Amino acid sequence: MPYELNNKIKELTPYEPITGDYRIRLDANESYIQYPKEKLQTALNQGLNRYPDPYAKKLCESFSKLYSVKANNVTAGNGSDELISLIVGAFFTHGDTLLTLSHDFSMYRFYGNVFGIKTEVFSKKTDLTIDVDALISYINEHHIAGLIFSNPCNPTSLSLNREAVIKLVSSVNALVVVDEAYMDFSDQSILDVCCNYSNVMVLKTCSKAIGLAAIRLGFAIANDKITKALRAVKSPYNVNAVTQSIGEIVLNDDAYVKECTANLLINKTELYNEILKLSQKTNLFEVIYPSSTNFLFIKTNQSKYIFEELLKRSIAIRYMGDYIRITTGSKAENKELIEALKEIVEGCLL
Ligand SMILES: Cc1ncc(COP(=O)(O)O)c(C=O)c1O
Repeated sequence: MPYELNNKIKELTPYEPITGDYRIRLDANESYIQYPKEKLQTALNQGLNRYPDPYAKKLCESFSKLYSVKANNVTAGNGSDELISLIVGAFFTHGDTLLTLSHDFSMYRFYGNVFGIKTEVFSKKTDLTIDVDALISYINEHHIAGLIFSNPCNPTSLSLNREAVIKLVSSVNALVVVDEAYMDFSDQSILDVCCNYSNVMVLKTCSKAIGLAAIRLGFAIANDKITKALRAVKSPYNVNAVTQSIGEIVLNDDAYVKECTANLLINKTELYNEILKLSQKTNLFEVIYPSSTNFLFIKTNQSKYIFEELLKRSIAIRYMGDYIRITTGSKAENKELIEALKEIVEGCLL
């Protein structure tokens, strides 16, 4: 009998980001800013024959200083993606239901499927905001074991206010994982209080505001009990030595992190205003959502057309059904994008 894949993974397809060689990449919410390579020499010069620190102690201390949390409550991961997979795979068991929201980051449900954890989806309102009271009732009435959602949200770019998140976590028995991958661009974090709750984890990443997507580095912050469990289930040397050292250098450079974040926000706002101006000349853009992130989320019935026309000009954005998602680039990249969008809009008006 030939070997058969099990039902959990039989139908799964590998995650396929846009891989072409495009001149301008505005599709993955990365930062366009590069940390000066000369400042990373010590990280690149170290010996590689020994295993790295399993608990990335110095790195977690750098993180804890930057974000004013206790290092003992911080766990480093090989990207926050690894932490999401660990949490979904280890903190839930067969028979548990994990709740995700729609629209939200697709990997939450993906890992639920991989680990055979039942996932349910709670729909956001038509304006893509979250009805928190209805969500709380749903969790309590359906005996949901866990909720995971991004705040601010990828892809909607909207942020749920801190009071609402705190009300949510204190009104349910479920484990609530708040993925704050984009919170550097907003001010509604619950990082300062998350360790006071028995049922909360906050996730952070270095892939967005901090501009280190290539080194794969993320963090989970939670109370002592959850942190101990997370450290117990992770693989021992999950964050490699080069990533630990680079992360340490950049996270210690708080002036740099603040400047990058401010820079990305300025460019995002300029891009938003330019697209808003353009939208007044056409009915191509139905809704441009107010963004709390480094990207814009736009509803348009011409999403595929816009996406393909931009690709022809070697500009990659994200196509998502009735929507497009555009990461802010540098000023020059944004300028080229706007010029291209103008051409596309004019083409539509002819
Ligand atoms: C909401 C959200 N969480 C997590 C991630 C993954 O981040 P990382 O690069 O740290 O794995 C992303 C990446 O796009 C994201 O949008």
